[in-house]
Amino acid sequence: MSVAPDAKSPTPAAATAAKPDPISGHLLSRRLLIVAGKGGVGRTTVACALAVLAARLGKRVLLAQTRSKNRLRELFGVERDFSEVAPVRDNLWAVNMTPESSLREYGMMVMHSSFLYRQVFERDVVRAFLRAVPGLYDYAMLGKTWFHTTEQVGGRPRFDLVILDGPATGHVLTLLRIPKVILDTVPEGPLTGPARDNWSLLTDPKRCLTVLTTLAEDLPVTETLQLSRGLAELGLPRGPIVVNRLYPPRLSSGLPKLGFDELLRSDSALADPVLGPVLRAARLHRHRAQLNEQHVQRLHRELPLPQLHLPYLFGESFGQAALDELADRLEGQVEALAAASRLS
Ligand SMILES: Nc1ncnc2c1ncn2[C@@H]1O[C@H](COP(=O)(O)OP(=O)(O)OP(=O)(O)O)[C@@H](O)[C@H]1O
Ligand SMILES: [Mg+2]
Repeated sequence: MSVAPDAKSPTPAAATAAKPDPISGHLLSRRLLIVAGKGGVGRTTVACALAVLAARLGKRVLLAQTRSKNRLRELFGVERDFSEVAPVRDNLWAVNMTPESSLREYGMMVMHSSFLYRQVFERDVVRAFLRAVPGLYDYAMLGKTWFHTTEQVGGRPRFDLVILDGPATGHVLTLLRIPKVILDTVPEGPLTGPARDNWSLLTDPKRCLTVLTTLAEDLPVTETLQLSRGLAELGLPRGPIVVNRLYPPRLSSGLPKLGFDELLRSDSALADPVLGPVLRAARLHRHRAQLNEQHVQRLHRELPLPQLHLPYLFGESFGQAALDELADRLEGQVEALAAASRLS
């Protein structure tokens, strides 16, 4: 199913596309969501909006970022570096994982002792060796993410949901493949136990889903299709696709369409010094909305996954109010998905 920006009326694409496989249960009842997609399409924004929504629904949420530019200050208005897990707002915590700190935490997890960790991992020769092992730092970040899904405080999970703001396309596939590579190639030992737990979480659709994020534009959609294939080949479950920054189909529902179309065709109106620039902007906007719709349809045709649609927000700044608005937009759509899965 697809849910339009206002979550009430399906887009024409939804009406014509093949019915996608339902996502079983509630999206936010997983332990781990991995937000993936092409660079710049809004992974961080979508991860934050999902986190805001889940926190609002009463879940204790950890937003885990990977070497991210610190956008949390701008998005949530909090002055921290988040190198350690720190609170953002009610029910919501964040951490910006660096490779070194993740490796330290992961090393301690595997060694079960900070003394042993220092003996092994903090020797110069070992550090130099580790830097040369491809993927090890990435694996440590994945290991730390997994660890946070298992953490217990007072006999209950510290976090109900961890949302990983993952790296961009190629890198995220490399990252998610590592536990499998370890299981396939490394002899049974201290690395394989955590790798097995990690892989069992990543491949269990009841506990973990990837959330592909894209724009309804040519390159991002092409990359989303590739990423989706890559995830499917790895056997990693795919949740709904978030189609971000959609231009609203109309400039304003109050505008009489006929008169507006005539104005757009009128050379004298377009040449008018006041009206002309407004009309040209409106024409561009409409063109983008039409392109968006074509790419939404293409996604529907080529990828049988439900879509969640988010509008382009045109505000002057992009902070808490914008995130709250995107969380509002997601809420109805996520609930509709959960309801559809109960019916199927
Ligand atoms: N729905 C939206 N409406 C308007 N602007 C948006 C929307 N979503 C994201 N943006 C803006 O798009 C830009 C990129 O968003 P974001 O940083 O979330 O992308 P990203 O995929 O995490 O990027 P990177 O690959 O750099 O990590 C930001 O300036 C953000 O404010
Ligand atoms: Mg980002």
